[in-house]
Amino acid sequence: MFQIGDVEIKNRVVVAPMAGISNSAFRLTVKEFGAGLVCCEMISGKGIEYRNQKTIDMLYIDEKEKPLSLQIFGGEKETLVEAAKFVAENTTADIIDINMGCPVNKIIKCEAGAKWLLDPNKVHDMVKAVVAAIDKPVTVKMRIGWDDEHVFAVENALAAESAGAAAIAMHGRTRVQMYEGVANWDILRDVKKAIKIPFMGNGDVKTPEDAKRMLEETGADGVMIGRAALGNPWMIYRTVKYLETGELMPEPEPREKIETALLHLNRLIELKGENIAVREFRQHAAYYLKGARGSTRAKVAVNQATEKQEMEKILLDFVNQYEEKNLIKPS
Ligand SMILES: Cc1cc2nc3c(=O)[nH]c(=O)nc-3n(C[C@H](O)[C@H](O)[C@H](O)COP(=O)(O)O)c2cc1C
Repeated sequence: MFQIGDVEIKNRVVVAPMAGISNSAFRLTVKEFGAGLVCCEMISGKGIEYRNQKTIDMLYIDEKEKPLSLQIFGGEKETLVEAAKFVAENTTADIIDINMGCPVNKIIKCEAGAKWLLDPNKVHDMVKAVVAAIDKPVTVKMRIGWDDEHVFAVENALAAESAGAAAIAMHGRTRVQMYEGVANWDILRDVKKAIKIPFMGNGDVKTPEDAKRMLEETGADGVMIGRAALGNPWMIYRTVKYLETGELMPEPEPREKIETALLHLNRLIELKGENIAVREFRQHAAYYLKGARGSTRAKVAVNQATEKQEMEKILLDFVNQYEEKNLIKPS
């Protein structure tokens, strides 16, 4: 257990924010599998400022997800301060997180995301302004640096801390690395050592054992898991369990995976309507099918599905055939 500001986090497993993924439907699903804290996908400060309807819709929170960290991004202090105020006043988010790690060009061009990492003074200035504007805990999610020549991980973390940040999450890669190479946990350890506020280590945690190693090697208070939870909320459950008891639970059988996939699909439909949800779910369906023997055809088929019934049928047909082939009796 750890605490961010006045928000209690029941265990040390945090599910990372992922754009296009971490909406309420996904968050609720990983929450049910035991996540201590869930984070929402990054939301544009400018979109909030202009009251863009699509952006406002992204602010939806189901009370069952809580505690929830809501992430905003932007390149201008004023925009971010206003966005933070709007979120604080109009949502029940427990924590407001500032994105200082997004590496994609579209975001960098607006001086947002990982661009902040080049100047610890700007980080300080920005965080201070947001902290002064709202009463909720403000956290920052960073990468370790811009490129190998500009790794200001400790400086940036200290800048955020002295500006009043309540916690820091850090992904152990530079902006230039994107998702290549391996996350540098040594730098995460240096950051954790340098700051007093809670720290969440992130990057390349693929198994419950990795999560334990991340916590041990970096000293982090929490471990943040992103890609390994895609189509695999059991990763969260298994990690929580492993950290608490040392017991490594088995991976789920395909039927269990598909049943959870269908639950996730239905939540997404409730959130976005069938038309959008089914198309968005294609990527999730592929993740839920990942690793299951004989799922290639189903993976191709889900990519063409446009209706709920069709998506459900592909997934259920797959698992029925899988069990028939492997002589598994439905329970
Ligand atoms: C599809 C995708 C979308 C992401 N979107 C965000 C985001 O909106 N905000 C953010 O701070 N990080 C985002 N990230 C980065 C993750 O939060 C995380 O830092 C990264 O994936 C490394 O952790 P992992 O190795 O556990 O996946 C995204 C990553 C992926 C794969």
